[in-house]
Amino acid sequence: MNKKIESALNDQIKKEEFSSRLYLSMAIWCETNGYPGASSFLYKHTEEERMHQMKMIHYLNERGGKSQLFELEKPTSEFQSLQDVFARVLEHEKFITGSINNLYGLTMDEKDYTTGNFLQWYITEQVEEESLMSTILDKIKLVGHDKAGMFHIDKELEAMASATKSPSV
Ligand code: FEO
Repeated sequence: MNKKIESALNDQIKKEEFSSRLYLSMAIWCETNGYPGASSFLYKHTEEERMHQMKMIHYLNERGGKSQLFELEKPTSEFQSLQDVFARVLEHEKFITGSINNLYGLTMDEKDYTTGNFLQWYITEQVEEESLMSTILDKIKLVGHDKAGMFHIDKELEAMASATKSPSV
């Protein structure tokens, strides 16, 4: 395994682990601030990020590299509102998309087409995640401070969480 690629994959593994913890922190905030549906949705998303991390760990190990774990910074635990939570989710997903794209670019520069091919799954996943989070954020913005509307969105998030199967690696 090319050392530059190995190091970049390890960096991405760290980012996926951080994403999982960030969404866990957001799920806890939602659960303790009266948004049970949003909390279920984010707990489920925490598992998805864990799956993203595990998938990359297995790939790296199987290709002759070695996955590394690093210290992680503490994720934010205070949020202004549900809108603030999902605005940050979207912002974070955009950051992850940029990171995956850079990683893909590196595999092309280094002519590691196998890893480039492996990363295609993440590229597609990022398109879906950004689109989903952007839709949720738009709905939250639309209802504004309307309590009934917010209640409805929370129920919708609960339904989305139940509809998603638990991810497996
Ligand atoms: Fe692992 Fe939500 O990107």
